[in-house]
Amino acid sequence: MELKLTWHGHATWLLETGEHRILIDPFVNENPAATVKADDLTADFVLITHGHFDHVADAASIARRCSAKLIANFEIASWFQQHHHVEDTLGMNLGGSVSLPFGRLKMTVAHHSSQLPDGSYGGNPGGFLLELADRRLYFAGDTALFSDMRQIAAGGIDVAVLPIGDLFTMGPEDSIEAVQLIEPKVVIPAHYNTWPPIEQDVELWASAIREHTGAEPMVLEVGKTVSI
Ligand code: NI
Ligand code: MN
Repeated sequence: MELKLTWHGHATWLLETGEHRILIDPFVNENPAATVKADDLTADFVLITHGHFDHVADAASIARRCSAKLIANFEIASWFQQHHHVEDTLGMNLGGSVSLPFGRLKMTVAHHSSQLPDGSYGGNPGGFLLELADRRLYFAGDTALFSDMRQIAAGGIDVAVLPIGDLFTMGPEDSIEAVQLIEPKVVIPAHYNTWPPIEQDVELWASAIREHTGAEPMVLEVGKTVSI
């Protein structure tokens, strides 16, 4: 089955199965790296990994306009419903899975923080393990390296999306170790080159992935759609 992926810069991803559009961590209007605005994006599902501004900023407007189902941890899902009038939300928590029209989704552990932009408690940060279109995808979210990534990836991962920007998340070196634990077929870098503090030489990163892991690095251009 066809599966398309578009990077809208930073940690914003659009997955398209042909039938469903799944938008992860929409942050484009104030994202200096993005080439689209929130009004250009449509989605059936909006997935949120954690409460930080650079992951939730455009979620409410898109979810409301598209009548999308917003999926996040319980605290964040409630926050969107109560404070941002997002009607269709699904709150879950770490380790939980759910079957959805596009496939199966599991909320995985991430080592990070999750305060919401207005100071509200944002629960625990997470990542997503998605099983759809005969593929298993792991969006790690904002996280440090942790050895349980091996456990999360048990059963095989086709595509892993990992942060490499450093400072707020793991950096390039730790991402190499993460790939050694996850052993995905393909690894895609995220959360870098949005602002100067998280600038990285992604070509250098890609060579290191080729040299030290069995995964194929796939560096996406912002705004460009690829088949995965
Ligand atoms: Ni964050
Ligand atoms: Mn972030």
